[in-house]
Amino acid sequence: MDYGSSRPRSHLVAKVLVAASLTALCMFILRQSSTSTTDLFAHRQEGVMHVLVTGGAGFIGSHATLRLLANGHRVTIVDNLSRGNMGAVHALEEIANPGMLQFINADLGDRKAVDEIFKKNAIDAVMHFAAVAYVGESVAEPLRYYHNITSNTLTVVEAMTAHNVKKLIYSSTCATYGEPTKMPIVEDTEQVPINPYGKAKKMAEDIIKDYTKASSDLAVVILRYFNVIGSDPLGRLGEAPRPELRHMGRISGACFDAALGHIPELKVMGTDYDTKDGTCIRDYIHVTDLVDAHVKALAHASEGTVKVYNVGTGVGVSVKEFVEACKAATGVNVSVSYLERRPGDYAEVYSNPSKIFRELGWKARYTNLTESLSVAWKWKMAHPNGYGDARSNS
Ligand SMILES: NC(=O)c1ccc[n+]([C@@H]2O[C@H](COP(=O)([O-])OP(=O)(O)OC[C@H]3O[C@@H](n4cnc5c(N)ncnc54)[C@H](O)[C@@H]3O)[C@@H](O)[C@H]2O)c1
Repeated sequence: MDYGSSRPRSHLVAKVLVAASLTALCMFILRQSSTSTTDLFAHRQEGVMHVLVTGGAGFIGSHATLRLLANGHRVTIVDNLSRGNMGAVHALEEIANPGMLQFINADLGDRKAVDEIFKKNAIDAVMHFAAVAYVGESVAEPLRYYHNITSNTLTVVEAMTAHNVKKLIYSSTCATYGEPTKMPIVEDTEQVPINPYGKAKKMAEDIIKDYTKASSDLAVVILRYFNVIGSDPLGRLGEAPRPELRHMGRISGACFDAALGHIPELKVMGTDYDTKDGTCIRDYIHVTDLVDAHVKALAHASEGTVKVYNVGTGVGVSVKEFVEACKAATGVNVSVSYLERRPGDYAEVYSNPSKIFRELGWKARYTNLTESLSVAWKWKMAHPNGYGDARSNS
């Protein structure tokens, strides 16, 4: 027997055995860790609130998710990416601790999918942001708005009930008030919406209120936002409406697009309103302040009640004033064209936010418009094409 030649062979066998056992061990650990990550979402964990954020790939929902994660909450985002950006979700994934954030691509119009989400995940509270949200589009496509906003809210509330989820923070809007004769708007101001967007949101509010009154132990806070602007002060997220939505877009996005040369000019719709300079008056609330209001709402939601709050600064700013602030923030003398009124728009809307201050201790902090726009502009310059391919998973 040749001992000299059998030793290397037995070495080789030993090496193969060690490698095989290491591979098996790694696979076991990997399987264990992926199982336990899924478990984290499927089971309640003492001291950790699991929040379902619908529309979390969108502007406000992504900023809210950022804060919820920072506050130690677990977040499941549900979004169909019809308007939001996968890039925002990726930015959040970079920040989130393992097992604290998951993204589910689903349409809230799909009842089965929504039910599955609630079945598979131990949700403690829902922040329902997901919606289509353009006034002009709602006038042109009302049925889309009633489906997407009213009907989908019904689906979410039914799924919450079926799966014993009690807390709901609902994204409503000042558009539910329509065009009140008396300013500023308080929560008791009569709601007479004048476009399908506002009507669809009011119907969703009514569904939630009726249901909570009649039979449920839901704890609901409805927040009626005024015009939301700004972006994360640390520059981790921004507002990135899809290029195809630009023509319907909000004024800050349009002004930045004009400053970047993506569109030739900023269009101001309507100069003959009965306001200080003929352009519409709005109340611009910073997204960080708005997210603060959600955090307070989550803490103050109480069983069997629906609390309703305006979330605004309490100060009306004209579109012309906004344009000047935007020019100052960007340093670009954006060219502006003044056009006819847009159907469905109202002249003057600003809030009286004293109820939310009195009851939740919330007050807007980011009230210097030029400063807020400067921060948002910084993000925009660093991301001239937004988050890139909106639906891309890479
Ligand atoms: N931005 C504002 O100034 C403002 C003012 C008042 C109220 N709101 C409300 O705040 C909420 C968020 O608005 P935003 O500005 O972040 O809008 P956004 O378009 O940036 O985000 C909405 C998100 O919802 C998702 N979505 C839409 N329909 C869906 C569906 N059927 N299923 C799953 N996901 C769906 C979109 O893909 C998008 O990511 C909306 O409910 C809106 O009505 C916004």
